[in-house]
Amino acid sequence: LANGLALTPPMGWNSYNHYNCAPNQSIIHSNAEALVSLGLADLGYTYVTTDCGWTLPHRTADNKLTWNETLFPAGFPALGQYIHDLGLGFGVYSDGGILMCMNTELGTNQTGSLGYETTDAETFASWGADLLKYDNCWSSQERSFPNVDYEPLTSPHQNYVNMRNALDATGTNLLFQICDWGVDFPSAWAPDLGNTWRVTNDIIPNWRTIFRIVNQVVPQTDYAAPGRWLDLDMMEIGNDIFTHAEEQTHFALWSILKSPLTIGCALNDSITSVFAESLAIMKNENIIGFNQDALGVSANLTRRYSDEGYDIWSGPLSGNRTVAALVNWNNFSIDATFDLPDAGLQSAGWVRDAWTNETRKNVMTSYKASVEAHGTLLLELDDTIPAGVYQLDGQSGDINLENVY
Ligand code: DGJ
Repeated sequence: LANGLALTPPMGWNSYNHYNCAPNQSIIHSNAEALVSLGLADLGYTYVTTDCGWTLPHRTADNKLTWNETLFPAGFPALGQYIHDLGLGFGVYSDGGILMCMNTELGTNQTGSLGYETTDAETFASWGADLLKYDNCWSSQERSFPNVDYEPLTSPHQNYVNMRNALDATGTNLLFQICDWGVDFPSAWAPDLGNTWRVTNDIIPNWRTIFRIVNQVVPQTDYAAPGRWLDLDMMEIGNDIFTHAEEQTHFALWSILKSPLTIGCALNDSITSVFAESLAIMKNENIIGFNQDALGVSANLTRRYSDEGYDIWSGPLSGNRTVAALVNWNNFSIDATFDLPDAGLQSAGWVRDAWTNETRKNVMTSYKASVEAHGTLLLELDDTIPAGVYQLDGQSGDINLENVY
């Protein structure tokens, strides 16, 4: 969406992966504070979004959404102020359906935004919200509603159009996160409506989810561009689910596929050594740099070595650089050879390992390294022709001109 926001993928924190639909004021305050104190805000993680579970199950008498006062005693406008005072962005959450995800009982005064788009957009604008995540539960496309008078939709698209129009009518410019789970190929319609859109079902706390999500993204990577990004879902790094190598792979792929980088763990817990490792992954500036690169082009799966169990993902960066990831899906480590042509290069002036910063100069044709089980070799390559290599007819290679004459 060309609203001047999210020119690079948005970064921040969201309550859902760790706290499910049970956020509260102290959880949001302490995690927002931790974004600042842990140095994450300075690296760009600035949006703080309270996901499902913040509302009362019914609207007010004048049909407004309102916060659950037991969970948020100071209220949502004050929550927004608290987040703003920390220099962070205030993210709110609603749903394009009749109910929000956690609700199950249909009544006459529902908490989803369906039919209340104008009221809700005005409410969020009046609270100074900077971001709206808009979910897809209980949309009439998702379920049929006996006794409820809404036209069934064949696609969630219309719900997002309605909220887009309502947001525009408020005159407030906020980052709009479309969360329709990839239903009805949102890459075809969401870029005009929102700044990000979910391409897949929810991430789950299981390693196989990473493989599933990135495979679903493959046919859609070309849709990503400044202002409009494919959302691979909130990260599970730091939730004590993955090995260190798995967390590295998760972060590397989310980064180079230009997903929003949304932290989904509890940052306010006491920092164990395990968490310190996770934190270091999420704070890796090389890898954040790939995600936030000014060119804004997603990497893609450029070669799959099915029998060998590894992939090459690669894509362009600004400044004549390329990023390439060799992802080892095997549950054992491998001695791998990364062939530069699999990333569209014959050679590189230099190659830098994004995790270790080890740099090799004048790399011809291939790069050998061992890669841990479920780990990723993540390389930044300089596209210029290495010294001593001559260029002929647009091709480069290790050809000595003396042999050509
Ligand atoms: C489904 C969304 O995809 C999740 O990110 C989360 O917001 C849940 N709904 C909340 O119930």
